[in-house]
Amino acid sequence: MLSGAGARARAGWQPLSLLLLLLLVLPEPGLSCPSPCRCWPDNRTVECSGRGLESVPAGIPGGTRVLDLSRNRLRRLEWPRGSGPTVRRRLEELDLSGNLVSELPGGEGEEEEEEAEDGGAWSGLGQLRRLRLDRNRLRYLSPGALGRLAALESLELGSNPLPALLDLTFRGLRRLGRLEVGGPQLGYLGPRLWEGLPALRLLTVTGGSLPAAPSALSLQPLANLSALRLLGLARVRRLPAGTFGPLAALRLLQLDGWSSLSELEEGSLRGPELLLRLSVTRCNLSSVPYRGLQSQPALRWLDLSHNPIRVIRAGMLRHVTRLEELRLVGAGLLAVQPEAFRGLLYFRLLDVTSNQLRSLPEKAFRSAAGLHSLGLGDNPLACDCRLHWVARRRRRLRFLGPAPACRTPEAHRGLRLDRPPPPGSFLCSRPRIRDKRPQRLSVREGRPVTFRCSADGNPPPDILWLNPRRQRLGAPTPGPFPLSGPALGRSRLLPDGGLEIASVRPQDAGIYRCVARNAGGNDTASATLRVRPLSPQELGVFRPAGRGGVRPGYPFDTQTLLVTTTMGFASFFSVVTVCFSLLFAWSRAKGPIKHNNIQVDFVPHGGGGGGGEGEDAKYNMKMV
Ligand SMILES: *[C@@H]1O[C@H](CO)[C@@H](O)[C@H](O)[C@H]1NC(C)=O
Ligand SMILES: *[C@@H]1O[C@H](CO)[C@@H](O)[C@H](O)[C@H]1NC(C)=O
Ligand SMILES: *[C@@H]1O[C@H](CO)[C@@H](O)[C@H](O)[C@H]1NC(C)=O
Ligand SMILES: *[C@@H]1O[C@H](CO)[C@@H](O)[C@H](O)[C@H]1NC(C)=O
Repeated sequence: MLSGAGARARAGWQPLSLLLLLLLVLPEPGLSCPSPCRCWPDNRTVECSGRGLESVPAGIPGGTRVLDLSRNRLRRLEWPRGSGPTVRRRLEELDLSGNLVSELPGGEGEEEEEEAEDGGAWSGLGQLRRLRLDRNRLRYLSPGALGRLAALESLELGSNPLPALLDLTFRGLRRLGRLEVGGPQLGYLGPRLWEGLPALRLLTVTGGSLPAAPSALSLQPLANLSALRLLGLARVRRLPAGTFGPLAALRLLQLDGWSSLSELEEGSLRGPELLLRLSVTRCNLSSVPYRGLQSQPALRWLDLSHNPIRVIRAGMLRHVTRLEELRLVGAGLLAVQPEAFRGLLYFRLLDVTSNQLRSLPEKAFRSAAGLHSLGLGDNPLACDCRLHWVARRRRRLRFLGPAPACRTPEAHRGLRLDRPPPPGSFLCSRPRIRDKRPQRLSVREGRPVTFRCSADGNPPPDILWLNPRRQRLGAPTPGPFPLSGPALGRSRLLPDGGLEIASVRPQDAGIYRCVARNAGGNDTASATLRVRPLSPQELGVFRPAGRGGVRPGYPFDTQTLLVTTTMGFASFFSVVTVCFSLLFAWSRAKGPIKHNNIQVDFVPHGGGGGGGEGEDAKYNMKMV
């Protein structure tokens, strides 16, 4: 890029020809390019990056606009004698990143010194617009230390071992629009830190040791902020509601590396209502934070990459109807449910690269035709009819990241979805249950029973069992209450598709159905269970308690009930008889009782372990 002066020189002084031009381009005597550096007179740039310098080299041409001293060994900014003021006056960009600077001069009282003092070194930079001091050894920034750099627009102080940022550290930087600060040690932010920065638009804070998110109050002076990045707040567990409330102009919010943050509560993002881009990455969110998203109707881009999110459920994104892009890379995602992006009219980019997805349902989208870009690579994709839509639309899709390729079926392993599919690929075959001869089992009450069911198909079918009342068995218990109905709660699906009922009851008898389902269709087989009830003698003897026993909450069968009651009453009457005889004997000995008020409480604690014994029934007798 030619500077304005250079361009004018060329246009105006054309007739003066080569000689002058040569003079302009050749380094001026005395202001030649410092030997270890490279200079570009065109854009007045001096580049001395990575030269092992321990001090600013002598001979930097006066009028230099950009000075790159990055990746050297400078401990402080010290201008070589003589070249100081002429170099500084027109300097616009100074890059000191990746050095060993450990201290900046104090803020007050040193402005006037112009010599080799640090304080002097940082003055006279009246044109400096961009300063990079990231990746240094700064441990302390005194309030107002940089205040004399009144023209500064961009300041990079990231990756410094600063433990704290005190109030008013950046006072005086009234034109500062962009600030990056912090490091892994940063553990304290002064409550008035952000005052005096009216022009700040972009703020990045890395706070590896901060115990809590910045308070809403401290963010109040940043009403004009449009982008906020809070990085590496690994100790912070929650984001209090309304934290970003004062940031009315915020359009971009990035929370990255909050490895203890496992939820975005409702209201935690309340405030900046026109947030367009939200990125919550490398945190500990285990699901799409739909509650936190409730207050973000304008959101267009969402990135939740590298969170342990296993499923994108239907409806989780219903509050962000304007969403266009979702990125969920490297999250361990196992499934995207149908209808996951249903309400999203403008949805056009999905990046789920590097997950554990076997498929991606076309029905997840309101219309797959609206999808422009898809990242699906590095997933163990099962290439059957469910993914055919991707192969079919491949020419109208832009694939992000590595090309998606099939993991299964074996015959098509490695087949790429962005290439024309060979014949016979992306097919499903309807499940076929292997042995469909009806099973008939007759089992003694209280015994376990196992039905078998196995099926082939592509993709491998899911197997489910229905009991005689057509209720689904073997599914996780839906609530805290025990299930009732044949075999509910006592049954378990076996890994090979079979069904086990731990201890059958008479009411379990009937026809059970095994259903094998996949995207290609379903197949069913049936099994009949007959239950041989226990004889009264068998019921009378001690029956093993535990798994096979009657658990609270199940209906007793009539026999058990009958025996329990009979035995209960028998023992009750015998005890009452004994009591009355005792009383009678006693009263005869003592003479008549005036107020004989006798209360007998009978509390049978039967029910539990196997029912009919009556031994553990308790009798309480109160006499008043
Ligand atoms: C200056 O110009 C050179 C060569 O044209 C280029 O490599 C360099 O990046 C430029 N520097 C800046 C700061 O524009
Ligand atoms: C926001 O910016 C405007 C000008 O763009 C300025 O007048 C105002 O003071 C700023 N607000 C704050 C809180 O800094
Ligand atoms: C992340 O969340 C899981 C539970 O969801 C928890 O066990 C784990 O300790 C959390 N990790 C951190 C770093 O807080
Ligand atoms: C099995 O497929 C038939 C159609 O072929 C369908 O009507 C039925 O609902 C399916 N059953 C299950 C349990 O999916």
